[in-house]
Amino acid sequence: MQKYALETPRGTVYIEGPCPGDYLAKLTMNEKLTNFRPPAKQKNALIMITEMPAGMIYIARHEKEIAGYVTFHPSDECSRWIKHPRVLELGGIEISADWRKMKLAENLLKVSFQNLELENYIVITMEMCWHWDTRNTKLDIWAYQRVLTNLFGSVGMQRTPTDDPDIIEHPANVLMARIGKNVSKSDIELFESMKFQRIYNNAINFL
Ligand SMILES: CC(C)(COP(=O)(O)OP(=O)(O)OC[C@H]1O[C@@H](n2cnc3c(N)ncnc32)[C@H](O)[C@@H]1OP(=O)(O)O)[C@@H](O)C(=O)NCCC(=O)NCCS
Repeated sequence: MQKYALETPRGTVYIEGPCPGDYLAKLTMNEKLTNFRPPAKQKNALIMITEMPAGMIYIARHEKEIAGYVTFHPSDECSRWIKHPRVLELGGIEISADWRKMKLAENLLKVSFQNLELENYIVITMEMCWHWDTRNTKLDIWAYQRVLTNLFGSVGMQRTPTDDPDIIEHPANVLMARIGKNVSKSDIELFESMKFQRIYNNAINFL
């Protein structure tokens, strides 16, 4: 497990991972890690991800408490991307409201992307605005989108056009992707061919 000490105004935070499930089980979740689901449920979800093929969790830890995390896992069964053998999804990054704007997210990404295993994958993130914490951050969706595209851009992820229904459902949503150095040309071509499936044309043809 990789470990990096980050000095913050609230003390030393350790950025570490990939974390085994039994290690996560011994830690507590900060009570404000509520963006996706209540902290206890989210902790179980993190542990479950460590059991998935290629699943990885990196955390930002203060003493015995998880202050933030980032997840990597295979795409959902209903997603088009599950059909690609080399796509891995960065499913979520969350920093507790107690710990925001102290570079925890930036460092979580920096440390996790130092893992050479990620060079074997096309890492994607589906940024959907209904998951964004516009209330606590007081950012509008466009400013929030800018923060996220810059944040993910800091590790080489790039905005990627697609007609994935989850992305086109709202104009602020974005797909970002980073192609690892060891991904083969044929896997890159397959990814390219999957971006647009002309779902609406197909639906019209079907009628
Ligand atoms: C988005 C989020 C992960 C940022 O975490 P963070 O640890 O506060 O971010 P960092 O301190 O590492 O900041 C990274 C950059 O974003 C900017 N940023 C972060 N929050 C910001 C805010 N509220 N307003 C303006 N800029 C902001 C920082 O200024 C920094 O930019 P810089 O490098 O140019 O200075 C955090 O707000 C969060 O958990 N939100 C809820 C969950 C979420 O929206 N996740 C993303 C979708 S999966």
